[in-house]
Amino acid sequence: MPAPQPPAVGWVKPTAPRPNHLSLVALFPPLPAQDKPGPMTTISSLFVTRLYRAQLSDQGKAPDLEELENTCLGIAEDDEAGQDWCEKNGYAGYTSYASLTDLPWRSPIIKDLVKLLDKHVAAFAKDVAFDLDGKKLKLEDIWINILPQGGIHTGHIHPHSVISGTTYVAMPSGTSAIRFEDPRLPMMMAAPGRKKKAPDELKQFIYLSPDAGEVLLWESWLRHEVPMNMAEDDRISISFNYSWG
Ligand SMILES: [Fe+2]
Repeated sequence: MPAPQPPAVGWVKPTAPRPNHLSLVALFPPLPAQDKPGPMTTISSLFVTRLYRAQLSDQGKAPDLEELENTCLGIAEDDEAGQDWCEKNGYAGYTSYASLTDLPWRSPIIKDLVKLLDKHVAAFAKDVAFDLDGKKLKLEDIWINILPQGGIHTGHIHPHSVISGTTYVAMPSGTSAIRFEDPRLPMMMAAPGRKKKAPDELKQFIYLSPDAGEVLLWESWLRHEVPMNMAEDDRISISFNYSWG
């Protein structure tokens, strides 16, 4: 009697029902879910967004905050063009952004502040590993913000700049934080939100409440906003942009 032959290569009429998806799942059940990565697993952070937070005094002698506050209030009081701009544009409070381009020249204390900010910005540029090709980051704009009770600064970025930031002059108790937004948010589509207790680097929104005398720096494309100032007193800050080359 001849020995049984292996089936010919090619299509062979199945002798049993062909496995469908369900039967494949039965053959290869998913691995048990695990809450923690295994010992051979690596999880990395990619495309990181850095935020710099420091005391102004970390890079040298900080300006006297009371004197700086009085300087801001004095400039605001004298700057009629700025007051007009705020009124026409529905900006509650005061900003010198649209009216004054010479604050360091007008005020020695702001000139000294800029020297300090230069050092903070250089430290941050080093942290984010910018290849500046031998050119320096230099101050492009610096302006005063006075946000009264009920004032708000809606979400925005700082176009044409590389590093932006704010230093805080007067932050009354209960005043608003600054909110930063994950720059990839428009691409997240159906991605679920994050748990309330998620680590900061995984959250989609971050609220920070800096103290007077602190400085925050971020890359200028990072969208941010100042929620409504609920404190009775003014929230006073000085913001700035640095450009490259
Ligand atoms: Fe801003």
